[in-house]
Amino acid sequence: MVTYLDADTAPLRNTGQIRLYGEEAFAGMRKACNLTARCLDELVDIVKPGVTTNAIDRFVFEFGMDNGALPATLNYRGYTKSTCTSINHVVCHGIPDDKPLREGDIVNIDVTYILDGWHGDASRMYPVGTVKRAAERLLEVTYECLLRGIAAVRPGARTGAIGAAIQAYAEGERCSVVRDFCGHGVGLLFHDAPNILHYGNSNEGVEMREGMIFTIEPMINLGRPHVKVLSDGWTAVTRDRSLSAQYEHTVGVTSTGCEIFTLSPKGLDRPGLPS
Ligand code: MF3
Ligand code: CO
Ligand code: CO
Repeated sequence: MVTYLDADTAPLRNTGQIRLYGEEAFAGMRKACNLTARCLDELVDIVKPGVTTNAIDRFVFEFGMDNGALPATLNYRGYTKSTCTSINHVVCHGIPDDKPLREGDIVNIDVTYILDGWHGDASRMYPVGTVKRAAERLLEVTYECLLRGIAAVRPGARTGAIGAAIQAYAEGERCSVVRDFCGHGVGLLFHDAPNILHYGNSNEGVEMREGMIFTIEPMINLGRPHVKVLSDGWTAVTRDRSLSAQYEHTVGVTSTGCEIFTLSPKGLDRPGLPS
């Protein structure tokens, strides 16, 4: 049986119970998530052929510092970077390094800032220079998956409705949904209950309630859904080496639907694609 907790009084650890947040929390999340979105906006002009993912990581760290925020991934479960940079067939959790980006790459940049205790988690895909049509189509499909998942959020519906909407669209476009990673409750904790699956049926999962805050972050592949994690313990890649894409927003459930906390103030939610 799932239980829901008042976020103001519940202990600060993931007990599997679902926190319901109030107006003060929503205000805090707006600020943290806006900072994350602004960082992702800045990166639009930074991502170019020749730029290393370590340079991107440094920018994310410094932009956080300049704005009073700490990257949540820094020293998280042994991870030592400020961002994840996942290129081409890397599904998620790519570790920034000194290899330059190349013309035609597609890279996901995933940033989570902690501001006044609130976690703002979002990611976008960035085309590097001009990319092949197949890659561009994958970005379009994946972004549409995120939007359709968000459109399924409302109190009374189950979290499975999010996954069902995403899976139906992705598979209808002859793409596949990664099963090994999911969205998550977020707020005072980085990764909290509930898990948000990006596949499944609308009668599955927990009932959504006003005040829940979670991420939706579908990973969609051009080939098969299966992934493996490399020996560094983090980098997840497609087993068939097909291209993979991901976009992520943090949302809060309202009385009528949801508020997207990580929307780009500049309308750059899908860099390189027509908005
Ligand atoms: N930001 C990722 C997410 O969307 C998590 C990254 S954890 C890390 O949940 F340790 F890999 F950085
Ligand atoms: Co997330
Ligand atoms: Co993220």
